[in-house]
Amino acid sequence: MHDLSSWTDSVALVTGASAGIGASCVRKLHAAGLRVAFCARRVDRIEALAAELGERAWAIPCDLRDEASIDNMFNAIRDRWGGVSVLVNNAGLGHAAPLGTGATELWREMLEVNVLALCICTREALKDMGDRGHVIHISSMAGHRVPGGSGVYSATKHAVKALTEGLRLELRETGSSVRVSAISPGYVETEFAAQYSKSEEQAAQTYARFPCLQPEDVAEGLLYLLAQPAHVQVHDLLMRPTHQPT
Ligand SMILES: NC(=O)c1ccc[n+]([C@@H]2O[C@H](COP(=O)([O-])OP(=O)(O)OC[C@H]3O[C@@H](n4cnc5c(N)ncnc54)[C@H](OP(=O)(O)O)[C@@H]3O)[C@@H](O)[C@H]2O)c1
Repeated sequence: MHDLSSWTDSVALVTGASAGIGASCVRKLHAAGLRVAFCARRVDRIEALAAELGERAWAIPCDLRDEASIDNMFNAIRDRWGGVSVLVNNAGLGHAAPLGTGATELWREMLEVNVLALCICTREALKDMGDRGHVIHISSMAGHRVPGGSGVYSATKHAVKALTEGLRLELRETGSSVRVSAISPGYVETEFAAQYSKSEEQAAQTYARFPCLQPEDVAEGLLYLLAQPAHVQVHDLLMRPTHQPT
């Protein structure tokens, strides 16, 4: 449906590809003809995905809370494939950790993965991109309004909103043609809700209220962004399940 022929054989990196949206983005980019490196901590899962896809797919173990692990990943991609042209900053998580009672460690993990790692990966990818590249942040509708009880998670996604615009301004100032976009989904049926609530049962209830977005819907959004001609920069793609009221 989307023509990505201008990216054939280009190198994409997708963070957080052991589940959900990340795994789906890997599959779609690979099917579109790109070389796709992807990372996560659950090595068995990303290796299974690499084995499923075969050539042009590369699983790299990485803990995004560890800067040395991020550096090793980017250096490995530079050595083998010459660096990254498309970066999908997808890895992220939420915890139910209210502002009045939440544990510092849960807040720290959200801030480190959703914000700090996204910044570090972006900086490293920009070193590789030269004048052609695309950085895509997987943000959230929680970056556009604040759902009750999700103060810190929502703050991380509001940060991603600022980081998208901040990077766009920096790129325009330097005359670069690299583009930056965000995708801001509402409810997507993944492992996110179980991780958030620490309850499979609650997660099942969350996703049963109405037909939620599927990871593939978000990955299609990614292909749409990448298929745009060089003079078109889509800033943010807001997508909700049709029946999501909030
Ligand atoms: N699902 C939703 O409703 C929804 C809505 C809006 C936005 N989003 C955003 O979409 C993105 C993907 O979420 P998802 O729904 O696909 O969730 P998911 O199924 O829970 O997947 C999260 C991914 O992030 C990775 N990750 C987490 N911490 C990591 C770390 N320290 N180092 C490396 N990888 C790490 C996980 O891999 P390992 O655990 O194997 O490391 C996993 O692959 C997130 O940024 C999330 O905020 C989700």
